[in-house]
Amino acid sequence: MPTRARSPGGARFYSGIGARGWRDSNYFTFSVRSPALRRWIAAQLPAKPKRVLSVGCGTGELESHLSALRHRVVGLDLSRAMLKRARGRGLGRLVQGDSRQLPFGDGSFDVVIFAESIGHLHLPTAFREAARVLRGRGRLLATTYAGTVKTHAAYAKFGLDEIAGSLAAAGFRVAERRFLSAKRSAVTELPSEAGSTVVYFLAKKRSVTAPTSAAPSPG
Ligand SMILES: C[S@@+](CC[C@H](N)C(=O)[O-])C[C@H]1O[C@@H](n2cnc3c(N)ncnc32)[C@H](O)[C@@H]1O
Repeated sequence: MPTRARSPGGARFYSGIGARGWRDSNYFTFSVRSPALRRWIAAQLPAKPKRVLSVGCGTGELESHLSALRHRVVGLDLSRAMLKRARGRGLGRLVQGDSRQLPFGDGSFDVVIFAESIGHLHLPTAFREAARVLRGRGRLLATTYAGTVKTHAAYAKFGLDEIAGSLAAAGFRVAERRFLSAKRSAVTELPSEAGSTVVYFLAKKRSVTAPTSAAPSPG
């Protein structure tokens, strides 16, 4: 999460934000601050209602917007305090859990979203778990921060190639990578990372191909 000021952060970081709320912290996320970004992300999903899992849902602003569009959204977060705020927003399907071991069966979702959460995660494990809970040809959407955005030390700035490599290793095909400038009322797409604040990835789960038989053909 980007910083508005220097702040010590620490182990109770998200408990503190959950207790105080983003507004009274020195931090923000673009999906909390920008209704335009929430609309932009929603527009990347199919219009037909989908089963959506949001990993690291935080206080649930994006998830509320997607629910209002009739998607069936489950929000998962490590922090009970963040989930309490999300519940206060009217969200019903909230789970306290860890991206390393998602408490859902194989193929349970059509879409998995990581909105500004991947910097806290072990990418290979998180993406492998996302692939497991996604149905065949399901989609993974992720947003993270552009290189010039100053973030809390706890948020790892992965290189874009590292993110793409972890997606590929987990069984995804990166279909889109876009650079966004996310303001409160508008999202502008830029040709490169320069000047952008948010980087967006869309990845599609590769369908599993049947193993080819090595047996010689008769005759
Ligand atoms: C920067 S906030 C983003 C919240 C929200 N998605 C947004 O865009 O406003 C990152 C969130 O990831 C959650 N988180 C961190 N590590 C996690 C993990 N291992 N599993 C699930 N959630 C985690 C934090 O509790 C926090 O709510």
